[in-house]
Amino acid sequence: MPRVGPRDVILRGEFVASAANPESFPSGGLPEVAFLGRSNVGKSSLINSLVGQGKLAFTSSRPGRTRTINFYRVDGSFYAVDLPGYGYAETSHQQMLAWKRLIENYLLTRENLALAVLILDSRRGWMEGDLLLKRWLEHHGRPYVVVATKLDKLRNKSEQERGLAQIRLQNVEPMPFSAVTGRGVRELWQTITKALPQ
Ligand code: GTP
Ligand code: MG
Repeated sequence: MPRVGPRDVILRGEFVASAANPESFPSGGLPEVAFLGRSNVGKSSLINSLVGQGKLAFTSSRPGRTRTINFYRVDGSFYAVDLPGYGYAETSHQQMLAWKRLIENYLLTRENLALAVLILDSRRGWMEGDLLLKRWLEHHGRPYVVVATKLDKLRNKSEQERGLAQIRLQNVEPMPFSAVTGRGVRELWQTITKALPQ
């Protein structure tokens, strides 16, 4: 199996599939790492900084851009799975239910899911949808880590520490991250590598 590693290792990320329903999920048997979080939180940017390929996953300043589940093969060894963001204010009730059904279906049925990465905005901390998802992952025994991204948007160390402390109130240790500065890329790589089957 090819070695996976942090930014200084050259990685190959390839788009594999964009699925609007479970029938379009790719087969293939590779382990999967799912990236979950509110709309616009920075899921696609985080995938791009992990892989070191600026334009692999589509990012946008307009929320709600990723509407399908996008699968990227990283170095031929696992799928990075970019899930559509929740909690976008302009989402209709019907769209929200469709989102919920799609995500739950993904999380329940993917036997090769090695790790879910729950991404929070370090300025905002936990919001309702995040807490529901956290409980859901725990209830279904899915392994997950919590990443606090956009840390560069907090001005100084004490603001950053306050943001991280708020996240710790839910009994998790957040991984500090910034797609802008690259902070946390290496640590997240280590966590992912450990979660993948050896
Ligand atoms: P959806 O697909 O709409 O759910 O959004 P997403 O979670 O994939 O977010 P995306 O990666 O598209 O980023 C949303 C916006 O936040 C973009 O304008 C990014 O440039 C910006 N952004 C993402 N990560 C960071 C970060 O770490 N720091 C800063 N300053 N901006 C970020
Ligand atoms: Mg996205």
